[in-house]
Amino acid sequence: MAKMRSQARCGECGHVEAKWLGRCPACEAWGSMQDEAAPRASAAAAGRTAAAVVRAAVPIGEVPLDGDKRAATGIAEFDRVMGGGIVPGSVTLIGGEPGAGKSTLLLQAAGALAERGETVLYVSAEESPGQVRLRAERLHALSPRLLLASETDLGSVLALMDLHKPALLVLDSIQTVHDPDVAGTPGGVTQVRACAGAVVRACKESGIAGVLVGHVTKDGQLAGPRTLEHLVDAVCELSGDRHHALRLLQAVKNRYGSVGEVGCFSMTGEGLVGVDEAGRLFVGEAPDGTTGVAVTLALEGRRPLACEVQALTIETSAANPRRVASGLDQGRLSLLLAVLQARADTKVSDRDVFASSVGGVRLSEPAVDLALCLAVASSVRGLAVPRRWVVLGEVGLAGELRLVSQTERRLQEAARLGFRGAILPAAYDGDDFGLRLYRARDLRGALDAGLAAG
Ligand code: TYD
Ligand code: MG
Repeated sequence: MAKMRSQARCGECGHVEAKWLGRCPACEAWGSMQDEAAPRASAAAAGRTAAAVVRAAVPIGEVPLDGDKRAATGIAEFDRVMGGGIVPGSVTLIGGEPGAGKSTLLLQAAGALAERGETVLYVSAEESPGQVRLRAERLHALSPRLLLASETDLGSVLALMDLHKPALLVLDSIQTVHDPDVAGTPGGVTQVRACAGAVVRACKESGIAGVLVGHVTKDGQLAGPRTLEHLVDAVCELSGDRHHALRLLQAVKNRYGSVGEVGCFSMTGEGLVGVDEAGRLFVGEAPDGTTGVAVTLALEGRRPLACEVQALTIETSAANPRRVASGLDQGRLSLLLAVLQARADTKVSDRDVFASSVGGVRLSEPAVDLALCLAVASSVRGLAVPRRWVVLGEVGLAGELRLVSQTERRLQEAARLGFRGAILPAAYDGDDFGLRLYRARDLRGALDAGLAAG
């Protein structure tokens, strides 16, 4: 087995060693290392010289512009994230946890594009054609131009692309196709990279737009998708808590559009339905006077979303009171509880604290700090924050408040959504957009303003 070559690569995790080993020292898989040929530098150089003679560089002003030939699917939330539609010859990777709805969304997009007269090839390597058909029926995606194949062999996928010359290829998923000429198990780094590379090349050569599905585990661990990001033109993530209907599609890289666009969907019995009035999706239905709730305006990508934060605090005699965060950062919650107690006379050391965001949205920016503090203090003191107020601000360890990015934009959206007032740091000197502004000097001041008026 151990031939005298330059290096060996692990087919599972991609780890490279100077010599072949029976067990990979990085991921500890047995028998996964494969010899690799040394890079053929001279041949590559020769190829480059020849190519240079055939196609000389041209002055930049004489380069013909690529016409914008995007194919929009008509699913507005999807098209917007894709930068207006699917670009011929481009390859997009759609990542997400299993069950996020990747297959559902892409089958819907494929069906919609086929309805518009384009040929779409949907290669399902995970489910049987019968299963996919059944789902397509439910999603109203039974278009004669939507072609379905169940394949796991890379060569067959490439042959199908050649045979049908579709406008769009959906490959679901890249982790389940494999190339018998390449080492490693399906789903391992070597296989995923080789297969994706081959599909990307085929797409570029034929002008077929490709969408690759990649599964990611909660911590982004799984071998595949992360190693593909540089190979493809765009990377989108479909996220959402599987116990909630909400799904967010977000571009994290896009050569043909802007990143930061967010598409909002709701998972229904008939697939994903775009939510265009998403601004207030995450505000609960609690009546006026409810304690322990505060609303903030979060920015998901470039999209402002009104989000409610809830807190429940219960007296306990336990030495270590519980701190449970859901949809919010656990460490941040602990820190803010300490600040509340030390800087703003809100005793929480004898209470269990449960805090969560409404609707399953994950709030990770510091802009949510002040709303979380208000929700907790509201629960502890039994005083409500007025329902139609938003709360914006980052809280420091000294109990000081800091302005959050794009405060003006968030306030503008709050006004549009019908909020009446806002609590924010004193440093804000922008427009009020018709809102009553309470400029608080510190955390203590913000609590006083928010809880006195309730
Ligand atoms: P799926 O698209 O299979 O997720 P992924 O491909 O990302 O693994 O769909 C996941 C969930 O969506 C599944 O639990 C069932 C649910 N679902 C609906 O609620 N409605 C529908 O119309 C469909 C097709 C799926
Ligand atoms: Mg799937």
